[in-house]
Amino acid sequence: MTTTTARGRRGTTVPGPRAPGPRGVPVLGSLRQWKGGTAEFLLRMQRDHGEVSRMRLGPYTVHLVTEPAAVGRVLKENSGNYRRGVLYEQFRTVMGTGLLTTDGDHWKAHRRAMQPVFTRKAVDAIGPNVVAATTEMLDEWESRARRGEPVELVTETLRLTLVTLSRSLFDYDIRPAAPVLKDVVGNVVEVMFKHGTIGEMVPGWLPTRRNRVIARDRRILSRLVGEIRRHHAVTGEGPLMKLIETASDPASGRPWTDEQIRDEILTIYLAGHETTAVALIWTLLSIANHPPVQEELDAEVDGVLGGRPPSAEDVPDLRFTGQVVDESLRLYPPIWIYPRDAVGQDELAGFHIPAGSSVLLSPLVSHRNPRFWDNPEAFDPHRFDPAVSAGRPKTTYFPFGAGARMCIGNFMALLELKMIVAMINQRFRLRLVPGEFLRYGDTSISLRPLSEVRVTLHPRERGRGA
Ligand code: HEM
Repeated sequence: MTTTTARGRRGTTVPGPRAPGPRGVPVLGSLRQWKGGTAEFLLRMQRDHGEVSRMRLGPYTVHLVTEPAAVGRVLKENSGNYRRGVLYEQFRTVMGTGLLTTDGDHWKAHRRAMQPVFTRKAVDAIGPNVVAATTEMLDEWESRARRGEPVELVTETLRLTLVTLSRSLFDYDIRPAAPVLKDVVGNVVEVMFKHGTIGEMVPGWLPTRRNRVIARDRRILSRLVGEIRRHHAVTGEGPLMKLIETASDPASGRPWTDEQIRDEILTIYLAGHETTAVALIWTLLSIANHPPVQEELDAEVDGVLGGRPPSAEDVPDLRFTGQVVDESLRLYPPIWIYPRDAVGQDELAGFHIPAGSSVLLSPLVSHRNPRFWDNPEAFDPHRFDPAVSAGRPKTTYFPFGAGARMCIGNFMALLELKMIVAMINQRFRLRLVPGEFLRYGDTSISLRPLSEVRVTLHPRERGRGA
């Protein structure tokens, strides 16, 4: 797609029309609708105003962009025109200046330094850690099942993905810190999403409750990073840790500062484990709620693995398991919305995007666009059969983003999810505790369930142990 500003009568360029959208009210714009249920509001924007629409949120002009070529233009072809911007400011209060929150040369140098451990090939090395951490969890589940006790999936999955990430990348046993981190992570995913609130406009040094919570959580996280670094100084282990501790700035040749190292470690921990846990929760619940999917999964997992634990090499053969994960990431993309700011003006799908305005990309809204997804609310892994997927335009599906800023951990997350789903499936059926009501929450940056998720465990008769 090209930028097609039309020529005016005297040869001046005339920008395309403004994107349509809700009128909103003076000063606040559509802030009230936004806060009243952001996901539903954005889905309505797409339905009522089309695939590029415009709204005002307090002082900000914001475009929701779901037209596939326009999403591609923002994330790939014209990505240089789109920075992280004002809506990412909240992330910096928690993560500092790590990979997720920076742009330009700083980002490029840091991404290049850390990329080697995240390639498709390199992440195969995490396989044994996934098996060890999952086996530990499932053995514990077995005694819970014998006692007839349900398990709470938010706690279990956060711990599992945290332990796996920490062992695989940092060679650090984080189990003792898992309960504290669960609370900290719960706070920070909410803080990162708040904007346009009074709390956000108050300076960070004022001792408001919100600022005190952020400062306390930063202290807990910084102490933890200190421990991880001291551990590494003794062992010299952990593939990502080795890269981070020896990285230097390409221009000056100086090693990364303590602050830069802290922020990158925090970014990987925070961006890496909560997202994967959220994806796992929705995948497990979707399987539990769709018996035909469960049966097809049983047949594949038993056929490929025959009761032994999976290795990374088995994963390409677990095709349907992969499609189940893909479909779960379509309906419940953990990072369901992310912003950019336009540096210069642009044109997206024929609409003018003024310089300085914001653009929102929402995998959740794009993934439910009825123009590309039949019956979009239904859970159907066969949408990802190769023949069906082949006809779908690029950037109709982007749970990990796209282009140069695509999630650095995407191969790791997918490998982990497929192996864990297969292993749980070998040993248990899960059922949501009757009467539990489940909805996704759209008040945080990740698409967490709104409440705890308690499931009962039903050991499988076959497919267990070699
Ligand atoms: C299912 C799990 C995951 C999902 C859905 C997910 C989603 C995303 C998305 C959508 C972005 C792009 C945001 C943007 O462009 O504004 C992103 C970036 C990022 N993710 Fe993930 N992520 C997942 C797992 C992971 C893991 C396992 C790690 C690390 C171990 C990780 C680390 C990062 C980092 C560092 C970035 C910033 C990359 C950059 O800008 O260069 N993520 N993730």
